[in-house]
Amino acid sequence: MSSRKYSYYLLVSGFLLLLMGLLLPVTAQEETAEPVLEATEEAAPPEQPVSDEAAENDGNYCVICHAGADQVHTLADGTQIDLQVNPEDIAQSVHGTANPEGALSCTDCHGEDAFPHDGKLPASERVLAVQSIEMCSQCHTEQATELADGVHAAGLVHGNLRAATCADCHGSHDIQSLKDQPQAVAAICGDCHVSVYDEYQESVHGQALLVNNDTNAPACTDCHGVHGIITPPPRSRVIAPRNCVPAAMPTKT
Ligand code: HEC
Ligand code: HEC
Ligand code: HEC
Ligand code: HEC
Ligand code: HEC
Ligand code: HEC
Repeated sequence: MSSRKYSYYLLVSGFLLLLMGLLLPVTAQEETAEPVLEATEEAAPPEQPVSDEAAENDGNYCVICHAGADQVHTLADGTQIDLQVNPEDIAQSVHGTANPEGALSCTDCHGEDAFPHDGKLPASERVLAVQSIEMCSQCHTEQATELADGVHAAGLVHGNLRAATCADCHGSHDIQSLKDQPQAVAAICGDCHVSVYDEYQESVHGQALLVNNDTNAPACTDCHGVHGIITPPPRSRVIAPRNCVPAAMPTKT
């Protein structure tokens, strides 16, 4: 995304920031162990509302504003995002307290400079989802590299923002492992590939997997791979009639 695109939104969101400062209730203090931000009557979030100590700690001061319900923000294209984030979702995710390397904080994904917000809002929900690739790639370089070589990333690069990003398949704050969950994965792919999913569901493999929970039946990723999915080459249509010979697919990763 070129930063030039944002210059307009920068201007607009400057005004929105002023507005939101007035409208956003800062109500979540009692839920935070160490409230570092006083409820502010100022028009915009104060420039230095957070002590250096808290910032160094973990970045979880973000929830002072983001734990509150009923806060929606309208992006430039008219879509709305819900600003509420439940820290419990993260705690119970793969990145939570069970994470052998310690729970992630907000800034591990959103960046140390996530706050104060500088007005560079994503233009749409899809742009926000695309930003997940950069966030997750900071740590998961292997999957990021595979994705970059596949058809979904190619689509994004060519401006097809409907193509799959990390957050589309994994979620953002409530991420759970997708290993050994072919049914759930089929549903995720099926969210976007509706007609293929319908066809699969009616096929003998789909019946076996989705109806009889027979995990020996080939699932989407058995034939297509996971992160490095590519366009099935023309000859796969010839050699491997649909739902027939997974081994003929070239992308098992
Ligand atoms: C003083 C209240 C406040 C604090 C503290 C705060 N935010 Fe926000 N946040 C907002 C408001 C209001 C918006 C709506 C958009 C705007 O006004 O910039 C927002 C929007 C966002 C968005 C969506 C838009 C975007 O830029 O992608 C993200 C993500 C976000 N905040 C993350 C964070 C993180 C991470 C932290 C901590 C490092 C944080 N916020 C701290 C008030 C706050
Ligand atoms: C594991 C990485 C990760 C962590 C940790 C994380 N976020 Fe996010 N966050 C994301 C991603 C990815 C998105 C974009 C979601 C999408 O496109 O659906 C997002 C979106 C958001 C948004 C926009 C509204 C929404 O929910 O889509 C806000 C606000 C936000 N995050 C705040 C926070 C706060 C506050 C914390 C800490 C309590 C936090 N995030 C921790 C990855 C993370
Ligand atoms: C600051 C580093 C960091 C960031 C950023 C991060 N992760 Fe992770 N992630 C980890 C660690 C550490 C683990 C736990 C150890 C492991 O399983 O690799 C983990 C685990 C996972 C797992 C479970 C792996 C499994 O075995 O099933 C998934 C899925 C995952 N992350 C996806 C994401 C996605 C998607 C994003 C972006 C929204 C993201 N991560 C952002 C560090 C990170
Ligand atoms: C968020 C929506 C989304 C999700 C989720 C998604 N895809 Fe896709 N997929 C797309 C889009 C859009 C394209 C077309 C990209 C382009 O070429 O512009 C695509 C392309 C493909 C292609 C290549 C099709 C062709 O004719 O070139 C295959 C194969 C594919 N996806 C399989 C999968 C599988 C398997 C999953 C689940 C593991 C999945 N997709 C999840 C949106 C999605
Ligand atoms: C098209 C859907 C899709 C997209 C896009 C996607 N993933 Fe995955 N990811 C999966 C599935 C399905 C699995 C489970 C694979 C399995 O069965 O072992 C997985 C597994 C993982 C794992 C666990 C380790 C592994 O490789 O099995 C991590 C970590 C991960 N993904 C991170 C990411 C990151 C980071 C991104 C973005 C750069 C991303 N994923 C994009 C579907 C996706
Ligand atoms: C048994 C192997 C196999 C399974 C299981 C499978 N596919 Fe495919 N898929 C193929 C082959 C081979 C092609 C190319 C030939 C064709 O188009 O018929 C293909 C084509 C595709 C295409 C591109 C062509 C189109 O019709 O859009 C998409 C997208 C796709 N599959 C997604 C999925 C999804 C999503 C699932 C799970 C619900 C899935 N596939 C399950 C083998 C498989």
